[in-house]
Amino acid sequence: MSTVIYYYTGTGNSLWTARTLAEKLGDAEIIPMHLMNKCTSGSKTDTVGLIFPVHIWGVPRLVRNFLQAIEKQPRIYYFAVAVNGGQVSRTLIQLKEIMTKDSLTLSAGFEVKFPSNYIPWGGPGSLEMQRKLFDSAAEKIDFAARYILNRDLGILEKGPLWQRVFFTGFYKMTYNILRTMDKNFHIDGTCTSCGICERVCPVKNITFEAARPVWHGSCEQCLACIQWCPEECIQYGKKTKSNERYRHPEVKVKDVFRK
Ligand SMILES: Cc1cc2nc3c(=O)[nH]c(=O)nc-3n(C[C@H](O)[C@H](O)[C@H](O)COP(=O)(O)O)c2cc1C
Ligand code: SF4
Ligand code: SF4
Repeated sequence: MSTVIYYYTGTGNSLWTARTLAEKLGDAEIIPMHLMNKCTSGSKTDTVGLIFPVHIWGVPRLVRNFLQAIEKQPRIYYFAVAVNGGQVSRTLIQLKEIMTKDSLTLSAGFEVKFPSNYIPWGGPGSLEMQRKLFDSAAEKIDFAARYILNRDLGILEKGPLWQRVFFTGFYKMTYNILRTMDKNFHIDGTCTSCGICERVCPVKNITFEAARPVWHGSCEQCLACIQWCPEECIQYGKKTKSNERYRHPEVKVKDVFRK
């Protein structure tokens, strides 16, 4: 079995999931989705994984754009991991529907819970809670690896009905305004012009003017910029100043630099 795993990450949870799963599957390569790689790495690839965070109870725009860009190979075993902060909702069902329109079959869809990186709503929780989530995530990845290696078919994990009913409308409502929601970012504190926020942005939405970052209205809301700023001087709206930052503890900033 030869696998290519495409991942998208803001704060490292999905990257860590991709790495861990790749190790367990063997003969697996991991590639960031923002490269929009058109090729599924040659003819020997027979398995393709998509690993990404749940954003606003659904599939992030960047993942949808990636799916449009890749070469469609109907005979490949496709699996997905929707990395989330506790509410996967109908993300994997939505992904399956998108793929079906392209004549692709999503053979397996897993959800894995991690600490939430949605800092406008709060921090990632206590270290003990985070540790529990990392432990259960590792077990879940182990399960997914065995499922994929067995070539099993059909698992498609989802949130409870109330989540799927209530939040699907919310996803649709915010999808088109998401890119310009970066107008809520601002600098509050001492920016050292280190450039990290620019380098972690997967879509080149940040440039520098007068040695300060400027956001350009093409944001994916991955929150990498605010979460990785070493000075914690990027804020989003009014509430993030007092909220704890989060990055996966085994992922380093250079690992998420845009390639
Ligand atoms: C804009 C945005 C929206 C999010 N929406 C959800 C959501 O609907 N459900 C959920 O469980 N987690 C949600 N999260 C949390 C992330 O899915 C979660 O923290 C994930 O582990 C982050 O993965 P990453 O570190 O690879 O970016 C959201 C995060 C962001 C930034
Ligand atoms: S990461 Fe923070 S300190 Fe570095 S340039 Fe960006 S805003 Fe300034
Ligand atoms: S501007 Fe920040 S939140 Fe938006 S895509 Fe870039 S890194 Fe992610």
